[in-house]
Amino acid sequence: MRSDPKADLRHIAIIMDGNGRWARKRGLTRVKGHSAAEKSIHDAVEVCGELGVEYLTLYAFSTENWTRPKAEVNFIMKLLSRFIKGNIDDLDKKNVRLRTSGRLNDLPEGPRKDLELAMERTSGNTGLNLILALSYGGRAELKDAFVQIAHGITAGDIAPSEITEELISAHMYNSDVPDPDVVIRTSGEQRLSNFLLWESAYSEFVFTPVLWPDFHAEQLHNALDDYRSRKRRFGGLE
Ligand code: IPE
Ligand code: IPE
Ligand code: MG
Repeated sequence: MRSDPKADLRHIAIIMDGNGRWARKRGLTRVKGHSAAEKSIHDAVEVCGELGVEYLTLYAFSTENWTRPKAEVNFIMKLLSRFIKGNIDDLDKKNVRLRTSGRLNDLPEGPRKDLELAMERTSGNTGLNLILALSYGGRAELKDAFVQIAHGITAGDIAPSEITEELISAHMYNSDVPDPDVVIRTSGEQRLSNFLLWESAYSEFVFTPVLWPDFHAEQLHNALDDYRSRKRRFGGLE
């Protein structure tokens, strides 16, 4: 294990999956699983704070999740508002800066306004950056970047020869955020589901069968131990 975890662990990204199955296992409706997810989010914020992690990205709603039944989507959007309103004081007190990634304009006005207010209120905070990926899709992010770059070319601001990996990175939703060191996915699924396609090129992946509502501080510490046991080579030699 490394002596300075902060140096190697600036950004943790989590695909919070398995809420529906957690509820089903208990004979509850799927949405009860979404409600039960809040404690796991608290724990993740707490652990990141303790470890001095700078960025925590939580995949909360994908561009594909809009295809779910309207009632479930509406429930999740209401839950989002409730989460923001119920936690903003505490997050602010903890010096957390709330941010988002994704097509925020897709969200209903209520939760969008709540998020905007919360982001504004915490914009000066210098602790953990808590990034909620909402209506986020990796392909949508790339597409949006390509459109912006194409406009830059049309306007004569960018020459095709100037398109570098750095320039593409600079057109991602949160270009100041370093790539995730580790992407954790709960619920046993072993896929990205359109999460951080560009940014996770050299991330470590930790897949755990634990369902998100059961993923608490202990489970996160275990996942991070797994991450720390890896040797990152970035294509080079030792
Ligand atoms: C993750 O849990 C939350 C969202 C995608 C919004 P799911 O709702 O995908 O739960 P499962 O995968 O069906 O169990
Ligand atoms: C990924 O989970 C998206 C989020 C956790 C927000 P999904 O449940 O939507 O992914 P698939 O459908 O299993 O790939
Ligand atoms: Mg799922």
